[in-house]
Amino acid sequence: MKPKGEAIRSGKLLKYAFMGLLVFLGLICLLYGSRFSGGLPRGDDSFDDFGVDPVTGRFVKKDFDELFDDEERNPEVPKSIPVCDLRYSELIPCLDRNVIYQMRLKVNLSLMEHYERHCPPPERRFNCRIPPPADYKIPIRWPMSRDHVWKANIPHTHLAKEKSDQNWMVVEGEKIKFPGGGTHFHYGADKYIAAIAGVRIYSMLKFPGERLDNGGHIRNVLDVGCGVASFGAYLLPLNIIAMSLAPNDVHENQIQFALERGIPATLGVLGTKRLPYPSRSFELAHCSRCRIDWLQRNGLLLLELDRLLRPGGYFVYSSPEAYAHDVENRRIWNSMHDLLGRMCWRVVVRKDQTVIWAKPPSNNCYTRRGHGTLPQLCSSDDDPDAAWNVPMKACITPYSASMCNHLNPFTDMIDFLGGLFSSHGSFIEDKAYYLLTATIDIPPCGSTEMHQTKGTFLEPWPRRLTSASPRLEEIGISADAFRKDTDVWHSRVTEYWKQMKSVMQRNSIRNVMDMNSNLGGFAAALKDKDVWVMNVAPVNASVKLKIVYDRGLIGSVHDWCESFSTYPRTYDLLHAWSVFSEIQERGCSFEDLLIEMDRILRPDGFIIIRDKPSVINYVHKFLASLKWDKWSSEVEPSSDALSRGEERVLIARK
Ligand SMILES: *[C@@H]1O[C@H](CO)[C@@H](O)[C@H](O)[C@H]1NC(C)=O
Ligand SMILES: *[C@@H]1O[C@H](CO)[C@@H](O)[C@H](O)[C@H]1NC(C)=O
Repeated sequence: MKPKGEAIRSGKLLKYAFMGLLVFLGLICLLYGSRFSGGLPRGDDSFDDFGVDPVTGRFVKKDFDELFDDEERNPEVPKSIPVCDLRYSELIPCLDRNVIYQMRLKVNLSLMEHYERHCPPPERRFNCRIPPPADYKIPIRWPMSRDHVWKANIPHTHLAKEKSDQNWMVVEGEKIKFPGGGTHFHYGADKYIAAIAGVRIYSMLKFPGERLDNGGHIRNVLDVGCGVASFGAYLLPLNIIAMSLAPNDVHENQIQFALERGIPATLGVLGTKRLPYPSRSFELAHCSRCRIDWLQRNGLLLLELDRLLRPGGYFVYSSPEAYAHDVENRRIWNSMHDLLGRMCWRVVVRKDQTVIWAKPPSNNCYTRRGHGTLPQLCSSDDDPDAAWNVPMKACITPYSASMCNHLNPFTDMIDFLGGLFSSHGSFIEDKAYYLLTATIDIPPCGSTEMHQTKGTFLEPWPRRLTSASPRLEEIGISADAFRKDTDVWHSRVTEYWKQMKSVMQRNSIRNVMDMNSNLGGFAAALKDKDVWVMNVAPVNASVKLKIVYDRGLIGSVHDWCESFSTYPRTYDLLHAWSVFSEIQERGCSFEDLLIEMDRILRPDGFIIIRDKPSVINYVHKFLASLKWDKWSSEVEPSSDALSRGEERVLIARK
């Protein structure tokens, strides 16, 4: 952007520049428009082609605005942005099956590609505000929402019928109730979780106090095929946070229910691309009756779980293969056992209908595998943390040299001893193998001195939240800078809350999204509030997401030039620090992003935008057209250690 004075200096020059710019932008708009997603198929909408399209029209004005920063010449931020047709009330632009049909995209159904993201091209992007369904009510507040939601908000009772024998959900008058059941745990997720962790007769992992959090060492869980996320819901009292994942498949709206309940959840699928999380993010992965064929494509999907699990991480698997004795299930079990053996996973315990595997805690076992054993190790130029639009790879991600700092040299032995006291089918075989790997401890890398000086494993929760992760070193951030970041965000969040105090009711905020999570400082500052935060790392800053996970928080990589994989009306608060200026640099449209934020924000929800003054000025003009002008507040924050030049904070309410 040019300084204002300079632009106005010469009227003539400006006129020529303006005309040239219009021609140029007109051409660009014809060819390019915006990368953003659409939903209103062009055939049904009322927009004319090309030039008259309000999309491209506004795009010109926007760019002009940024170049000249001259309000008088561009008074036309739209007076109002139209409301979409009611049939789009649940639109998720990049997961809209219609886009696949209409564009005749070739998707391989057996690879689940139809559940992966396919963002519509510019001419199919929607350009309207998604309306709530008729009779929509402000959601029931957490913690009551764990057990019931308004039926009018998600008018789909299909699951209640289909899963009626499994206690997923029950329709009761105006509400839908969630008794806490699941396909594998009809009698409640709480009892199932206790059985996995406890020391009683049906117990499996034998953690102290029968708590699955294992003294704070298990914090981040990935639940694949999560249903309505009751497993995740009942982990919360144990201070465990689960990323509950499911596609928008025949079990319509399961993730929408989960989010309406205030439980962390997101749409996603184990298809062909990596899940948008860095490597070594979860201490435990869970799958009960998730109907995933784990053996396909040389174990590709198990290898993706392997990438996501931390050293020694668990995979809890409850499925007929783990117990049924018919020929087909035996065959699958034997093949999985064989494959996971080659991946160096070991059975920790197998009981009733569940088996728990553990990923190896070090590289030792990999180096001991016979020559040519598959799956092979990933090549050293593979970045295991690259997770946005990266195809899954059928290889094992070994621990890198820099990772040795996080390994606890005693993990092997502790795991082994713990395992001794558990009983399972193939005890001898697994333990003999494990004994070997545990006792002949070839240091996989580095010196033991590093283990001692750098600390070993992550601190247990909640200390993890504020202690500097060893992986900070990988992204070149010092422990000191990290602590400063934590402090800065603490004060910033305190200020935000002060600003919103007059309009915020108790419990009105539960699902929070930090659209540019950086090191997770914003989420960390909300620790004592009864909220959970989806930390979003813009693709450009995705390397930082592993720090977020190391702190015991959860999040996802995302490109804010596209629509997010969530249902409409799923977040109570969106925090956008420097998100607009980032997409501006990449030529994406502010208006698209504002419409997207409007889509994912619940009615009455809050938006906090912190950015350059020019950005805030521009967004400010949209408040009325987005109907975000119920209440708003703009301040110039005091500068702090993270300020990069002048900033403004705009808080508004949908
Ligand atoms: C789908 O993918 C599978 C596995 O790669 C392959 O065998 C099959 O031929 C593919 N189907 C189509 C229609 O491309
Ligand atoms: C990040 O964004 C900047 C500005 O648009 C761009 O120049 C750069 O290439 C991006 N970096 C990555 C890693 O995508």
